[in-house]
Amino acid sequence: MRTQVAIIGAGPSGLLLGQLLHRSGIDNVILERHTGEHVLSRIRAGVIEQGAVDLINEAGVGARMQREGLIHDGTQICFAGERHRIDFRALTGAGVMVYGQTEITRDLMDGRAASGQSTVYEAQDVSLHDFAGEKPRVRYRNDGKETEVACDFIAGCDGFHGVSRQSVPRDSIRNYERVYPFGWLGLLSDTPPVSEELIYIHHPSGFALCSMRSHARSRYYLQCSLAEQVEDWPDERFWHELRLRLDREAQERLVTGPSIEKSIAPLRSFVAEPMRFGRMFLAGDAAHIVPPTGAKGLNLAASDVWYLSRALIEFYREKSTAGLDQYSDRALARIWKAERFSWWMTMLLHTFPDSSEFDRKVQLAELDYLVKSRAAATALAENYVGLPY
Ligand code: FAD
Ligand code: PHB
Repeated sequence: MRTQVAIIGAGPSGLLLGQLLHRSGIDNVILERHTGEHVLSRIRAGVIEQGAVDLINEAGVGARMQREGLIHDGTQICFAGERHRIDFRALTGAGVMVYGQTEITRDLMDGRAASGQSTVYEAQDVSLHDFAGEKPRVRYRNDGKETEVACDFIAGCDGFHGVSRQSVPRDSIRNYERVYPFGWLGLLSDTPPVSEELIYIHHPSGFALCSMRSHARSRYYLQCSLAEQVEDWPDERFWHELRLRLDREAQERLVTGPSIEKSIAPLRSFVAEPMRFGRMFLAGDAAHIVPPTGAKGLNLAASDVWYLSRALIEFYREKSTAGLDQYSDRALARIWKAERFSWWMTMLLHTFPDSSEFDRKVQLAELDYLVKSRAAATALAENYVGLPY
């Protein structure tokens, strides 16, 4: 088999890249380890920056998002039992789109099916070869049959645990990492959201977040210990603990109901440098992870894909390697800003196991400054809504 670009992974990065390349006449194959249903069963991000919205539209799969997505012009921050609003629109002129990663993935999968480009689900033992030279190849097994794909380029879009980053010789890559001593327990339910806007909550018992997928579907998160498991959290315990962390008005408005999904995600900051190794490029979670507090994971994946898709299109149209040569530096400049913002939001809002009373007072002073200073609120808003690509 031969293709121009072999893409590893059918998450948002791989599917979006495949679609943008296809629309520019560049042939590509996607190899995904799991089934499509499995990929769609993972409930993840919900907040999409304008840059990512534009890219999804450019990929030709934005129609449902435009119809069903919710535009949010601000967010709420609750601390010391009081809620405050950060007005993104007034401070930056921009807002964000609330639309689930699952729905984006579904729209991209439908677009992929219509494009006629090849996607191999349940591709086992994917391995990457000869990407340091001119003729890279990818091998995989499917239905007991071994296949080799010859290509011009490989795009490693296979997430944090993928094979692409692990295929790079150790002395060619440097990893930067910070692991946080807690996780987020997420619950999805078909209940109306407690508020029109997201609420980020600082509370002595730990962080909480009220988010949503639609006017009828809510997504809530609670900071939890890494020793805990989903089985430790029957729905009643989750709702009880969430209610304790809410302000009085939200406590009264909260509508509870049976969960339709519950999962625990550990929190991590991670960056691998560089993101290019000869003819192999990393994009999305394969190269970097942010804690979800800043809602940046999916948005960073989209910005990587923006840089990489343009670089590849320029290569095939103009025979220029300029964009490919600059890809890693350009993407990393943006990634480190999102890493800083996500780390800062995480440090500001969570309770750390070794936090002292002093640490908590400093967090509260910073939160108070944030909602009273126009400059501080603008800095948060600019980071949250995202810089133009
Ligand atoms: P992924 O979505 O991880 O996709 C990678 C794909 O590659 C997967 O389908 C995987 O099956 C496939 N793959 C892996 N290994 C191989 C292999 N060897 N061969 C072939 N295929 C392979 N971001 C937010 O902004 N907000 C959130 O609330 C949020 N919550 C999250 C919760 C969890 C549990 C996780 C893990 C992430 C969360 N994120 C969140 C981050 C966001 O979901 C990711 O940044 C986004 O999914 C990145 O997309 P991706 O396509 O780069 O990687
Ligand atoms: C979500 O809706 O899943 C979500 C929203 C904002 C975040 C993280 C997750 O910061």
